Amino acid sequence: MPGLTPAELDELLTFTTALARTAGELILEGSQAIQQASASDIGEKKNSVDLVTEYDVKVEELVKREIAAAYPTFQFIGEESYSAGSRPPLTDAPTFCVDPIDGTTNFVHAFPFACISIGLIDQRRPVLGVIYNPFLDHLYSGVAGHGSSLSRAGGAPQTLPLAPARPLPSLSQALVAVEWGSDRTAPAVTKKAESFTRLAGDPARGIARGRMAHSLRSIGSAALNFAMVAQGGLDTYWEIGCWPWDVCAGIVIAQEAGGFVTGGKDAPHDGDVTEGILTGRKYLVIRAIADTEGETGLEAQKRIAREWYDTVEDVPLDG
Ligand code: IPD
Repeated sequence: MPGLTPAELDELLTFTTALARTAGELILEGSQAIQQASASDIGEKKNSVDLVTEYDVKVEELVKREIAAAYPTFQFIGEESYSAGSRPPLTDAPTFCVDPIDGTTNFVHAFPFACISIGLIDQRRPVLGVIYNPFLDHLYSGVAGHGSSLSRAGGAPQTLPLAPARPLPSLSQALVAVEWGSDRTAPAVTKKAESFTRLAGDPARGIARGRMAHSLRSIGSAALNFAMVAQGGLDTYWEIGCWPWDVCAGIVIAQEAGGFVTGGKDAPHDGDVTEGILTGRKYLVIRAIADTEGETGLEAQKRIAREWYDTVEDVPLDG
């Protein structure tokens, strides 16, 4: 099966962008409703921190319906459909990969960093992504081979990263994003806490292998963490335990902004997001880094990936 052509991707970008904005209106409506709702309107999936609302389901239904009408032959993988038992295997066919509300916890708490994330996979590789945060009216998009951009408050798209790439000598100079995720079992929480301690801690003040990064951030949305790395506001983002729909769109946007995306500690760190990495639930993304004398930006990104995995613990995946 031949892959999508540049002209088809261009048309798909127009479609996906409009769809993300429509979904954004429903997310904003949902936010108003959720702030008036009672606790019993907020559901739990795997545990009491893995939240779902009727709006996650409503937004996914809307998106799924519009996609089926416009692209009836395309496959669909969505967070809520997956939870409801629809788990089609990935094939070479074009496949939308959608998180209707990424950052559901933020959505429930009225912390304005939640978004719709619409990715498109073709030939088993992410090729297009649109991430829309309707609370801030920030729309990120990217198409393989055609760059990525950010449009704020309906303004003209600005190419990503927003400023020319800078060097990154080591993690000690980095602003890094991490997330606790929803697996709160002892092995996951302990290993993440050890990792966060080393990233933040001062090696000269008792933290063995401490990197003393500038600081650690958690936006609470994997998609928006990826987008912020693409933008250049974060140097790295690492998470274990999120899912392809959380990251699919962000992978394209980050890569097209010169970012380096890889998987867990044992993945080949060559920047190729294979099916194994896309579905592996372990992700590290590093922003574009400028070439310096004696080191290309790509070499620097691989060096930072090695430093990262010399620092953090691997974390077992939950079921
Ligand atoms: C979650 C968010 C969060 C990340 C979790 C994801 P959801 O997605 O992206 O930042 O830490 O791993 O599951 O549940 O809000 O769609």
